[in-house]
Formats: sequence, C-alpha cells, structure tokens
Amino acid sequence: MKKRIFSGIRPTGPLHIGNYLGAIKNWLQLQNEYDSVFCIVDLHALTTPNASKGLKKKVFDLATTYLAAGLNPKKCILFVQSQVPEHTELTWLLNTVTPIAELERMTQFKDKAKEHRSNVNMGLFDYPVLMAADILIYQTDLVPVGEDQRQHVEMARTIARKFNQTYGATFKVPEVLIREQGAKILALDNPLKKMSKSSPNLYSRINLTDSPDEIQEKIKRAITDSGKEITYNPQKPALANLITIYSAFSKLSASQIEKKYQGKGYAQFKTDLANVIIKALKPFQAKKKALEQEPEQVKKILEQSAKQAQAIARKNLKEAKQKMGLI
Ligand code: AMP
Ligand code: TRP
Repeated sequence: MKKRIFSGIRPTGPLHIGNYLGAIKNWLQLQNEYDSVFCIVDLHALTTPNASKGLKKKVFDLATTYLAAGLNPKKCILFVQSQVPEHTELTWLLNTVTPIAELERMTQFKDKAKEHRSNVNMGLFDYPVLMAADILIYQTDLVPVGEDQRQHVEMARTIARKFNQTYGATFKVPEVLIREQGAKILALDNPLKKMSKSSPNLYSRINLTDSPDEIQEKIKRAITDSGKEITYNPQKPALANLITIYSAFSKLSASQIEKKYQGKGYAQFKTDLANVIIKALKPFQAKKKALEQEPEQVKKILEQSAKQAQAIARKNLKEAKQKMGLI
C-alpha cells in the first residue's frame, strides 16, 4: 500500500513564490508517489482578523491556484476543510488529551498573539490541535510543509502519542517532510524574515499572479548585500535568497549561477532573475485564468474530493470515538 501524505494552505490571499517553492512544487512530485490529500484550510484562516471577508473568493482562488500549479484531482484528493466537518469533531476529542503547556510553547501562537494583541482568540491558541486533527484523521504517514510548520507537525506527533497511550493504538504518528531547497524563501525587503502573505510591504514578496512588470520592479527593488560578486554565501542572506530563487525556477545549481555571473554585476543578475521567474510562471498564469472561467467545474472537483476525504475521515473518527467510549 502507498504511504499517505497530507498538507494544507490557508486561503488568506494570493500565494507567493515562497508558498510555491516551499510547498506546492514539492506536492507536484509527491502526488505521483503517494496517496495524497491536499486541503484548503479555511477554518484555520478564520483565526486571523478579517479573514472571513471575501473568504469564498479566496477559497476559489486557492483552488484554481492548486489546479493551475499542476495538482491533479485524478491523482490526489483536493478539498476544502470545512466541507468535511469530521475535522472539527476530532479537534474536540484531541483537545481533551492536549497539554496546554505544549500549546503555549508554539512560536506561531506567540508571534501572532504579539502581532494582533487585541484579537488573541481561542482559535489561534487551538490552531495546532485542528492541524493535528487534519493530519491524524487520515492516518497520515508524511506531512510535507515548509520549515515554519515543523513545530506544528511535532505537536501532531505529541498528540497522536498521547491519544494512543491513553486510549490504545489508534493514530499513526506522522513524520514531517521538509525539502532542503526552497524550504524557506526570505522576504525581498528583509532577509531576516520569511516571505509572507501578511507583510504590509508589497515589495517583500512576488505573488504567483504578478505581472511581468511587477516582477521586474520587485526584483529591482529587492535588497542585496554589500559587495559586487554574485556568490552564494549564507553570510550574505539577501543575495543567497535571490540565488536560491533563481536556482529553483531555472534548474541551474547555485554554483552554475555563480559561474554564469562571474565578472557581471547585480544589475544583469537581477534582470535575468526576473525573466526566469516571469517565464516559469507564465504557463501557470494562463491555466489559472482559464480555470477562473469555469467555476462550476472547479466546484465539482472540490465536492467530489470532499466526498472521498469524508469517507476516510468518518471511518477514522468513528474508531477514535469507540476508543474513547463514546460509541
Ligand atoms: P501559509 O502562507 O503560512 O499558509 O503557508 C502555506 C505553506 O507554504 C506552508 O507549507 C508553509 O510552510 C509554506 N511557506 C509559507 N511561507 C514560506 C516561505 N517564505 N518559504 C517557504 N515556504 C513557505
Ligand atoms: N498550518 C499550516 C500553515 O500555516 C496549514 C495547515 C493546516 C496544514 N493544517 C495542516 C499543513 C495540516 C499541513 C498539514 O501553513
């Protein structure tokens, strides 16, 4: 039997190249090798302020992004979290075995709580438990995510073990799967931060739907380190980040890129980098536009996938409830 993978992204606005390189690009290969479940985690999105504004549109936008990027509903399950309510039911059950002290250690919670001090809601705190439910309810073997989500997958492992200890072997303990290249793409305006959907500075990220002009302009403005040489050096994180992006979109290795730009300056490198990104995104952008004209077809794919997901989720939820003495 094939091993199962599960992953998800929150529908909180257009995806950037960090999401693509850190998550979706890996999924495209994985869907060929694994029994794959990919989710649009709309319930997680609700933990951030104002997320419900235009939420349906954001869900549709993420669905067309998944499909245009190459996720194939014939090879994987591709569904919306809230359409399979078993996730939320399992969340409650898992809450009863989750130590609060562990949740208090979550760096994402601490960061977000600082970020929106006036809206530190219970959902934000419980976020990792809902995520554990997403993963465990499918008896997932592997969870492909970016580095920033490692701690949450650890939490899912802790919860699975705790549940199994308390009620007997029920859930698989999932492993995290993080690819080296593109695991963390940094913000173009600040190499100390990751590229993020929520940064107020539009020049900090390149969205997958950006026009060629926007991409040229954003790369032009991207900060670089002192010096003139195009060399990959972790001590120069801004340039290293741009080389990582170049490499990911062009199939050239970092050292091939260094060679190519020997004796050439940042200007040439940046113009070429922008062109590499523009070229790589072009087929995606055309496909996404076409899908946007077919909302019924997209809806049908999501509904069929939700049914497939629900069949698995229902069975595993039932087992958990039996173990807990509920049925
Ligand atoms: P988010 O935008 O936080 O919902 O993240 C969706 C997925 O993209 C997760 O698997 C993240 O780990 C990944 N991701 C988000 N930002 C980055 C980044 N800057 N570099 C690499 N992966 C990222
Ligand atoms: N928390 C993840 C993120 O912010 C999204 C997510 C929700 C997820 N449930 C998941 C990722 C389950 C992997 C598996 O990126």
